[in-house]
Amino acid sequence: MTGGRISARIAAVSPSATLAVDAKAKALQAQGESVIGFGAGEPDFATPEHIVAAAEVACRDPRSHKYSPTAGLPELREALVAKTRRDSGLEVAPAQILVTNGGKQAIANSFAVLCDPGDEVLVLAPYWTTYPEVIALAGGVPVVITTDVASGFRATIDQLEAARTPRTKVLLFVSPSNPTGAVYPRHEIEAIGRWAVEQGLWVLTDEIYEHLVYGGAEHHSMPVLVPELAERCVVVNGVAKTYAMTGWRVGWMIGPTDVVTAATNLQSHETSNVANVSQRAALAAVSGDLAAAAAMRDAFDRRRLTIHAMLNEIEGITCLLPEGAFYAFPSVEGLLGHDIRGHRPTTSAELAELAIDEAKVAVVPGEAFGAPGYFRMSYALGDDDLVEGVSRLAKLFGDAA
Ligand SMILES: Cc1ncc(COP(=O)(O)O)c(C=O)c1O
Repeated sequence: MTGGRISARIAAVSPSATLAVDAKAKALQAQGESVIGFGAGEPDFATPEHIVAAAEVACRDPRSHKYSPTAGLPELREALVAKTRRDSGLEVAPAQILVTNGGKQAIANSFAVLCDPGDEVLVLAPYWTTYPEVIALAGGVPVVITTDVASGFRATIDQLEAARTPRTKVLLFVSPSNPTGAVYPRHEIEAIGRWAVEQGLWVLTDEIYEHLVYGGAEHHSMPVLVPELAERCVVVNGVAKTYAMTGWRVGWMIGPTDVVTAATNLQSHETSNVANVSQRAALAAVSGDLAAAAAMRDAFDRRRLTIHAMLNEIEGITCLLPEGAFYAFPSVEGLLGHDIRGHRPTTSAELAELAIDEAKVAVVPGEAFGAPGYFRMSYALGDDDLVEGVSRLAKLFGDAA
């Protein structure tokens, strides 16, 4: 017999830290504890009624009961062409779109298609915890570029240039960002896109939070600002965040036809078509108006202002005002090394343990995002829970000596 029971490739994958926090919170809840969860990255709203109604009809349609084309229902791909034109101003053909099991599969497909062993992918930290894992699984090498509060969690061209080597193939870009809530302004997106074109790099741009921008922030799609990038650009998107549809598992990737064809081939052997009922629900979502999405965005905006103000009142915590998505990413450095109810946490991971154990508040420590010293707190939870949760943290950390 050779090797271990689990292949080295899969044994190297870390469990999702965000799901781990959620599991702990749910286990405590099951024991009757009142836990406030800032962990999960999903809207607390129900999927809008007209979308659910379309899925109900689809359930009864015998066509839904059979395999359908791997790349997606033709009607959905057509609707995604129109949606992409409407929301981003990007002109694409149906053959450039592959419908996937969530944005997650679109990202995994993209790296599987683009990376040969040893190809380097520039990843901006704090990063969404899935990115480095799927890059490594594809044989790529994540090269992490660190950003911090001082730069508003945005990378500069100088930083990108310093990290570039002859092996660099792809830049992974996300705005609005999970976990920081940062939104790149138009001129910075354009400059980064131009730099990528000049260096002959690919860009994977994750636009899943495109509709969740607040205040004066605006979302811009990189291949629209830099059309020359289109032949080496993959756009990832999905219905999960905009339409409160995390459980339906529908995303998509848009790219040059050779990349999309290769990804479709791969997906045809891995998962085939996305569940037809979910595709019909997604069709109703993307071909309908954005009224429900706007109402949810207004609620997130209100909570964003509340959590930002309340966190900054806690001594030892500093929090930038998030401009997009639904996460606050406060620095908790000022609390580390202090005595808190007989404990002396020295890392954000230890502090997060204390928060769940002592205050029954679940947050994800920055370690999960390549950014120790921070918490990620989703504000996609009810207004009252949000206030209660941050008040509990204020009380707990108020005891710091
Ligand atoms: C930045 C980012 N991209 C992509 C996704 C994928 O979402 P889904 O697979 O649910 O469509 C998420 C979900 O958390 C995310 O935060």
